[in-house]
Amino acid sequence: MKRIAVLTSGGDAPGMNAAIRSVVRVGYVRGVKVIGIYRGYRGLLEKDFRQMLPRDVSGILEKGGTVLKTSRTIEFKEEKKQLRAIKNMKEKGIEGLIVVGGNGSQAGSLALFKKGFPTIGIASTIDNDLWGMDYTIGFDTAVNTAIDAIDKIRDTAESHDRTFIVEVMGRDAGFIAMDAGIAGGADIILVPEVKFNINEIVDDIKNGMKKKKMHHLIVCAEGAIHARDLGKIIQERITIDTRVAVLGHIQRGGSPTRFDRLLASALGEKAVDALLDKEKGKIVGIKSNKIVLIPLEQAVTKKKKLNLKLYKLARELSV
Ligand code: F6P
Repeated sequence: MKRIAVLTSGGDAPGMNAAIRSVVRVGYVRGVKVIGIYRGYRGLLEKDFRQMLPRDVSGILEKGGTVLKTSRTIEFKEEKKQLRAIKNMKEKGIEGLIVVGGNGSQAGSLALFKKGFPTIGIASTIDNDLWGMDYTIGFDTAVNTAIDAIDKIRDTAESHDRTFIVEVMGRDAGFIAMDAGIAGGADIILVPEVKFNINEIVDDIKNGMKKKKMHHLIVCAEGAIHARDLGKIIQERITIDTRVAVLGHIQRGGSPTRFDRLLASALGEKAVDALLDKEKGKIVGIKSNKIVLIPLEQAVTKKKKLNLKLYKLARELSV
C-alpha cells in the first residue's frame, strides 16, 4: 500500500487529534502517503482531501476536538453513497481507509469493507460502547470532566442541603454515568441498561434524610431519564430543594488525559500497521492492556455489557 486515508466521524472525542497525529507520523515513517479526509463521510463524498505530513500535525496532541473536523452523515447509510465514496478514493489512488470514531462511524467503515474497500477502525467515542474492548479514545477524559463537575456540584449541594441531579452523556450506554457516579461518590446512579423504579429513588432519599443525610447526588445517563424530568418528580413527591445540572457537550471537549493520549498514539500506529499487513474490516482497540484487532462486524453489532458488579458496588457505597 502506497497511499492511505484517515477521517474522523460522528461525535468528536478528546484524543482524536492524538490518533490523527499518530496515523500521519507512523504512516510517514513507514513510507506511505497519508491523506486527511475532512468532515468525516461528508468530506469523503465531496472529495475534501488533503495530504498530511508530519509537520501538519504539530501542536495537536494536547488539543480536544478534531483538526480533520467531523460530521454525522446519515445519508452514508445509502448504498449509492458508499459506492461513490469508494470511487472518490480510488480516483485519488487511496488504497486503504482508517476511520476514527464510534459505533455509527464504524458501521460506515464496515459497509465500505463489505463493498470490497480495505478499512480499519480506531475506536473513539466518549460513550465507550464498542464491543470487544475495554476503553475507547475519549472516554477517560470525558469521565474526568464529569467527575470534576460532580465534585464542584457536591460543594454547593452540601452547603445548601440540596438534592442534585447531574445528567451525563450516554444515549444508549451508561459507562460514563457508572464510572463518574462511583468516582464522584453519587448516592444513586441511573443507566439505560438497568431498569429503575422512581418510588425506590424517592424512598432512598427519604431514608437518607431520616439518617441525617441532608444532601443527595444522583448521576443519570441521558438515556436513562432526563435530569429535569426526574427533578420535577422528586420535588413533587418530597419537599426538598432540588436542582439539576446537565453537563452536555463539555464532556466532549478539552485536553485529553494521559491515558487517552497514550491510547490514541498506540491505536494510530496499530491501525497503520494493520492496513500495511493487509488486514481489513477490523477495528483496533485495547483489551486487558493489549492492543487488539477485532472484526468490525462484531464490534458494531454486539452490545457491550456494563459491569453490573459496579452497579452493586455503587449501591453499597451510598449506604
Ligand atoms: O458521541 C457520543 C455522544 O456524545 C452521545 O453520548 C450523545 O448522546 C451524542 O453524542 C450527542 O450527539 P450530538 O453532539 O450530535 O448532539
